[in-house]
Amino acid sequence: METEAFDFGAARFDFAAERDREILRFVLSQALFGEATGVYCGRSLYAAETLEAAQFYVKQARQELNHLLLFAEIFRTLELSPSPPHWVIRVLSAHNDYYPLKVLMEHALGEGMVLDIFRDVLLQTLPEADERTASIKKKLAVICKEEEEHVAWGEKETRRILSERPWLKSAFYGLLELQLWLVPFAVRGLKRRAPEHPVLSQLDAFVRHVQQRVWKQGQALGFAPAQRPGFFSRASAVSMGVLLLVRSQFARSRSKLDRRYIEELGFERS
Ligand SMILES: [Fe+2]
Ligand SMILES: [Fe+2]
Repeated sequence: METEAFDFGAARFDFAAERDREILRFVLSQALFGEATGVYCGRSLYAAETLEAAQFYVKQARQELNHLLLFAEIFRTLELSPSPPHWVIRVLSAHNDYYPLKVLMEHALGEGMVLDIFRDVLLQTLPEADERTASIKKKLAVICKEEEEHVAWGEKETRRILSERPWLKSAFYGLLELQLWLVPFAVRGLKRRAPEHPVLSQLDAFVRHVQQRVWKQGQALGFAPAQRPGFFSRASAVSMGVLLLVRSQFARSRSKLDRRYIEELGFERS
């Protein structure tokens, strides 16, 4: 994944200002919910097709559980209490039992954007002068490193799936368009709270940065076209994406490892 960070310049939050605390409470509450849903990636263990996938999901579930606890500690350090998640975050973090969509939407794209927020926004904009910042940044650094691993897994699996099932490319591209369209809704309310805030006044530019990064990521993964196509091609890709999404809602996860464990462990089936 492209790692060029957005530069917020000298803009910082102030832990003592009520307005800033409300903004941070909103951002951290979305993160906390995202981590809570991350924990049920454990459900993917049941559908893991390979030993490598099973190992990844066991490790990821433990890491997400740890992230959940680390964010809870950040709330306590700042003496904040969490609020319910935004509807866009609920939509974007919904579990998908259809494995190709899970690796694309949750790991490659979803956790990629999570990383943008943790690394570009939170790590850059906490006030260095406040003594609580150092310990919060330490926790965030641990979380970011592990989220990078989750994105890398999503990208690796997306590439593998597309090489086996290239017909999924159009639908994947349509879903990327759909996610890019949804992102501004998540920050709209936030901007209205304090449009002149030094961090929030840069939110539109940050969203554009994220959209461009995700677009390049889609190209690097081989499903986003070199040039953004016209409206009708985009609409047709989005419809294919939506159809796949609807179909995936009826997908049942089926266990695979109990049928493949002998080969997966490197033995020959007799
Ligand atoms: Fe996480
Ligand atoms: Fe993650």
